[in-house]
Amino acid sequence: MGFPRTRPRRLRRSEGLRGLTRETRVAPEDLIYPLFCVTGNGVREPVVSMPGVERLSVDQLAAEAKEIKDLGIPGVILFGIPATKDAEGSGAYDPDGITQRSVRAIKEAAPELVVIADVCLCEYTDHGHCGVFDGVHVHNDASLPLLVKTAVSLAQAGADIVAPSDMMDGRVAAIRDGLDDADLTNTPILSYAAKYASGFYGPFRDAAESTPQAGDRRGYQMDPANGLEALREIQLDIDEGADIIMVKPAMPYLDIVRAAKDSFDVPVFAYQVSGEYSMLQAAIERGWLDADRVIEESLVSIRRAGADRVISYFAKDFARNHRG
Ligand code: PBG
Repeated sequence: MGFPRTRPRRLRRSEGLRGLTRETRVAPEDLIYPLFCVTGNGVREPVVSMPGVERLSVDQLAAEAKEIKDLGIPGVILFGIPATKDAEGSGAYDPDGITQRSVRAIKEAAPELVVIADVCLCEYTDHGHCGVFDGVHVHNDASLPLLVKTAVSLAQAGADIVAPSDMMDGRVAAIRDGLDDADLTNTPILSYAAKYASGFYGPFRDAAESTPQAGDRRGYQMDPANGLEALREIQLDIDEGADIIMVKPAMPYLDIVRAAKDSFDVPVFAYQVSGEYSMLQAAIERGWLDADRVIEESLVSIRRAGADRVISYFAKDFARNHRG
């Protein structure tokens, strides 16, 4: 039965009809907002390559957390930038480190807000790699105990979820064992399971001061050309005990999001990363793209591809435009 009996435009005639037949929705409840935390007092420092994003000192986090919660956003993911870095990234597992203090400040100000702590060493190492580095290679197995210490210490500080983003093999199992041994059996692991070696992380590395001093991350993050490998990575992480898996970046990898959603029955998250944010913001600033439309469209596309939740630097902007 084709045209003229079939007329897809019938369902597009009014906003009412379009709304009634809309397949995918995005609401503030579907979003998670990333926060960059720095040392100092009274700091709200704009990230030049990410217009609208600021690095905040711990004293600023209470008000920020309440604002996020009041906007209807259920969770945040934290990235701490320590004052000093060393070869072992010891700031990552310092019980009084920048991220641990940030977790405590947010949980105190807004206990209902779900605090996800990113678990990685790159913000804390002087070489900028995500694990133990000998000048040429990042050592997988030697990095695991440091990641475990980091995850345990963040969970002890009160993080509701730990999210390893380092891409070392076996880290999910190691972290699960470490959490369980520390009586943190109820702390879930959100694994950056399919994390690509992406140029779209550029602005984040400005914000987090985590650009590798030598070499790049291709020896541990995934080759952008590989799709089947993403499914193997996700399967491994689920077998090792991941409670939630993530695909990152989001928009250039929507096929991977879809494949993950079709293949696995755990929650699938996607991370709309810094470069995705900054390229849209740059065009918006020039008046080349309409902010409200492209922010919503980008988030809808990630949800339509199958992401249950989206980490996005646009979360607050979106939520302001879509209050209950
Ligand atoms: C840490 C980490 C990175 C991002 C999240 N966690 C950077 C990287 O791997 O280089 C990127 C987030 C973004 O670009 O918004 N390993």
